Parts: sequence; C-alpha cells; structure tokens
Amino acid sequence: FSCGVVIVAAGRGERAGQSAEGPKQYRTIGDRPVIAHTLDIFATWPGAGPVVVVIHPDDEELFAAARKRMAGTLELTVVHGGATRQLSVLAGLEAVAATGVEYVMIHDAVRPFFDHTLLDRCGAALREGAQALLPAIAVADTLKRTKAAGLVAETVPRTDLYAAQTPQCFRLEPILSAHRRAAASGRSDFTDDASIAEWAGIPVLLVEGAVDNFKLTLRRDLSMADEKLTRMAI
Ligand code: C5P
Repeated sequence: FSCGVVIVAAGRGERAGQSAEGPKQYRTIGDRPVIAHTLDIFATWPGAGPVVVVIHPDDEELFAAARKRMAGTLELTVVHGGATRQLSVLAGLEAVAATGVEYVMIHDAVRPFFDHTLLDRCGAALREGAQALLPAIAVADTLKRTKAAGLVAETVPRTDLYAAQTPQCFRLEPILSAHRRAAASGRSDFTDDASIAEWAGIPVLLVEGAVDNFKLTLRRDLSMADEKLTRMAI
C-alpha cells in the first residue's frame, strides 16, 4: 500500500490578516512554521508514498525556509498552485499521477493537528475498496441561516450535518478525472475535493474526523494553535 499525498499551501490566507511571516501556513506555532508541523506528520507515517506540496510562486523562499524547520526529512516535489484551492489541488494531482500511485490523500497545509490514527483509518478503508473518504465530525452547534446581515431567517436542523475536514482520500484515477472535468467545464469554486467527487457521482464515505483537526483560518486560530503546542511542550 502506497498512497500519494498532495498538500495544498498556495493560498494567501487573507482571513488570518497580514503578518511579516507571510501567509498563515508559514506562521510560527510552537517553535516552527505551521507547514513544518503538517509535513512532519506525513514524514513519519509508513503509508505515505510520493508527496507533492503545492505552493504559490511567490512563496519559494518561505517554503524552503519552513522545510528546513521540519523535525524529520521528507522527499517531496514542489509545484505551483492556481487561483483557487480547487485549481491548486488539480496541479498537485497531476504531479502525483506522474508517479503512478493508486491512491492519494489531499490535505490542507493549515491543518497541523491530525494524527497517524486518522491516516491509518483512511488507509484501511481505501484498501477495503472505498473510492472516496471524507473525515468529518458531527456539527455540535445549532445552525442558523440569515436573510439580511444580522437577521435570522431560519434554523437549519443539524441532524445529519457534518463538518468536512482533510485529509480527504481517494483512488487516484477517478478523482483526477473528476477534477479535470470540473476544471474543463469552467468550475473552479469547489471548496473541497469530496464535493467534486459528489459532483462526479463518486460515492463518498464518511470516516470519523477529529475535533483537534481544525483549519487555521483566522488570526485567533493561530494563537489557539500556538497555545496548544506550548501547553504540550510543558
Ligand atoms: O482558503 P482555505 O482556508 O479554504 O484554504 C485551505 C487550503 O487550501 C490552505 O492550505 C491553502 O493554502 C490552500 N489553497 C491553495 N490555493 C489556493 C487557495 C487555497 O493551495 N488558491
């Protein structure tokens, strides 16, 4: 079993605000950049095959510096991303496909808190024949849809609602072909890869995600992540 890995890190991270350290995937949490933590988790997972990291063309130096801060080492290929996450993933999938692997995991660089038990669960489900896997957690909050800014239109029943995480895992050939078709049809706004699988009619299986595996999106998330790692180091 060998599973290619695509790590998308080409975003500008605008919702996290500006920082001298660059986009959020390069900010320091604990003692190292976010992406160094993320890469280390794959570096020590025995199931990981070829790893492709998708970066923004302006971030070559930031990435090279962050890579040096990894605890371990990892052979990886760097490719340039596109204008949206979807297009960045497609660039990564094309590079991973060139290596001939049968499976792929697609992961956000800005989720540094997953662990090997999640990867093992996904690996096992792929080996059992799943085409597409989505780590997700049941939504805990009561959800509201708004009509105008600040005004509630209705309550959305949360039964059956899940929050999607990454790594999302796939048999490579069907998801690559779905991604190519989505891009060729002019779509570039899918915010995750399971939704492209759904669009293409590929069955997506839920696997238990982890509460800790949150996406660093806002400035506040970065401070939370930093505190969490500092606590762990004590
Ligand atoms: O913007 P969002 O938080 O959904 O980004 C999720 C992941 O996708 C991040 O790791 C980000 O770097 C990546 N991304 C990308 N290319 C883009 C936009 C986002 O690789 N054009």
